[in-house]
Amino acid sequence: MMKKISKEARSALADRTKLVYAGRDPSDQYGFVNTPIYRGSTVLSPSMEVLLARTGRYTYGTQGTPTSRSLETAWSEIAGAAGTVCVPSGLAAVSVALLSCLKAGDHLLITDSVYRPTRVFADGLLKRFGVETTYYDPTIGAGIEALFRPNTKAVFTEAPGSQTFEMQDIPAIAEVTHRHGATLLMDNTWATPFFFPPHAMGVDLAIEAGTKYLSGHSDLLLGMVSANEKAWPDLHATYSAMAICAGPEDMFLAMRGMRTMLLRLKEQEKSALLMAEWLQARPEVSRVLHPALPDCPGHDIWKRDFKGSSGLFSIVLKPASQKAVAAMLDDLALFGMGYSWGGFESLIIPFDAKPYRTATAWQPEGPALRIQIGLEDVADLQKDLDAGFARLRATV
Ligand SMILES: Cc1ncc(COP(=O)(O)O)c(C=O)c1O
Repeated sequence: MMKKISKEARSALADRTKLVYAGRDPSDQYGFVNTPIYRGSTVLSPSMEVLLARTGRYTYGTQGTPTSRSLETAWSEIAGAAGTVCVPSGLAAVSVALLSCLKAGDHLLITDSVYRPTRVFADGLLKRFGVETTYYDPTIGAGIEALFRPNTKAVFTEAPGSQTFEMQDIPAIAEVTHRHGATLLMDNTWATPFFFPPHAMGVDLAIEAGTKYLSGHSDLLLGMVSANEKAWPDLHATYSAMAICAGPEDMFLAMRGMRTMLLRLKEQEKSALLMAEWLQARPEVSRVLHPALPDCPGHDIWKRDFKGSSGLFSIVLKPASQKAVAAMLDDLALFGMGYSWGGFESLIIPFDAKPYRTATAWQPEGPALRIQIGLEDVADLQKDLDAGFARLRATV
């Protein structure tokens, strides 16, 4: 690690500099710059005393390797956390975080705009284990207090919602949650700690699907949960009990992605904003859902609490048939159609949140599309969508 720089000096470094040095110690790796992929289950002990007391630096593959420690240390530094666990997917990060702070008989509050598989986890597995969930309007703010019950133990937020882009007043929700002695969770994948430092803003457990911007290359699945001092012991105990550890190759690739993460994010932020503004002026588009645009709902909260925006946003088209939308999307040359986001390539998918919303109604005036902007040239992307809009207009 940066042996010549004190802990205080390290925390004063700019994010760009932190990213270059975080989580690596060349002196521990024969001078090689990066921590390599350590594979393995057994860790040989130098003596029976060390084996029995479990005082070795590493004890067993599921309990950590130099590769996992590198990534966990780096992510804790980036997120401003007391500790981080790395798990095999973003959804696994959601589930291990929730399991770390809930037990049978507890009540959980989840934003209605949440990533849908989080809802499936709560309505299925958590319910089966005796946890009751209530969904809330993402714009509720401090009004969430009215939904608290004596057994409410956790609030799960996501800002903005990764399809419909409602913002949430995280500091207001944090204040209420903590006054009631409950745990505040946030899926912070969209903003990442660079654009929203979760723990400094009052979040106890922050989830990041490393599959998205940390990877940046659509070639791995990974999740991180970072915790503040209060939430860390239960998170670590739950993670250890489940041994839900990420694969070494995926963690190595994530470390490689991390070095360029902020540069990619900033470029994707810039391109996405240009695309969003361009789409706002298109006659086929009714609304653009992007919190960094001044006329989007939630913009004031975004401006107050966030330091940037990422490359993911949605649009609502003016009324059009499914056939017309298919004509637009099927023949796009640059935009791919597929799930996930955060990679170097642009993506577009249709979505409909209506069937699964329970606390709020999703009633768009036309078909909705979610757009992920990659690292391509903006003019090329506009040309591709322009041709798509011509096909949309020509089809009834
Ligand atoms: C907001 C959000 N959280 C979590 C996840 C889950 O990540 P993973 O695909 O790695 O399970 C996703 C994936 O799309 C997501 O969009």
